[in-house]
Amino acid sequence: MGAVQCQGIQKVFGEEATKVEALKGVDLSLEEGELLMIVGPSGSGKTTLISIIAGILGQTGGKCEVFGRDLQEMQNSELTKFRGDNIGFVFQSFNLIPMLTARENVAVPLLLNGAAYEDALEKAGELLCSFGLAERLDQLPKDLSGGEQQRVAIARSCIHEPGLIVCDEPTSSLDHETGVVVMDLFRKEILEENRALIIVTHDPRIFSYADRIIHIEDGRIVEKISMG
Ligand SMILES: Nc1ncnc2c1ncn2[C@@H]1O[C@H](COP(=O)(O)OP(=O)(O)OP(=O)(O)O)[C@@H](O)[C@H]1O
Ligand SMILES: [Mg+2]
Repeated sequence: MGAVQCQGIQKVFGEEATKVEALKGVDLSLEEGELLMIVGPSGSGKTTLISIIAGILGQTGGKCEVFGRDLQEMQNSELTKFRGDNIGFVFQSFNLIPMLTARENVAVPLLLNGAAYEDALEKAGELLCSFGLAERLDQLPKDLSGGEQQRVAIARSCIHEPGLIVCDEPTSSLDHETGVVVMDLFRKEILEENRALIIVTHDPRIFSYADRIIHIEDGRIVEKISMG
């Protein structure tokens, strides 16, 4: 079955004068236990592609299956539930909830899946500690640095142990040492739990963590590189 199977994915934004063909037929597959990186210039369609894979955006053409399920065929409520159970997402802009503390932000996926508040907060606190944020648990996002917010967003994406985690530039605001800590945690999670991870990145420091790298340009895959 695999984690992700995309065939001929196309995405068009706007119409006529404002029409943008962001994806022009992308095929991609990802197995469980695999870490795939997506690289490419600004505007090449990376965020669009992973948003479709994560069920945040619908495609214009082609088919995308996640764990054997066609996302576009699901009703809204079913898709929301499926995403809550199976997919974690790290947004390029973090998208933390401003009035919730770091720990509460991380607990959100657990709470949405019905966990008790105290249990969810405790688990969120433990995960944040492993990301080096023990001193920041009760801060609001506005009082955190960019790199701290980024780690909170990463913790939120994986706290509910989804089978697929999709990250848009997860190390862009991290110094080298913290980036390595985060990637080591990620790598450990997927190797041990047989989960799948897709990372969009411009950061050559983390390329060595990938099993495969695909290079996308102008809405098309132009190169596939297998590592190791
Ligand atoms: N909601 C939207 N409406 C209209 N055009 C869009 C929308 N989202 C993306 N685009 C366009 O689609 C193309 C691909 O955008 P996308 O955000 O996927 O690129 P990207 O590779 O993630 O770039 P970056 O590295 O800068 O984040 C760009 O031309 C962009 O302007
Ligand atoms: Mg982007």
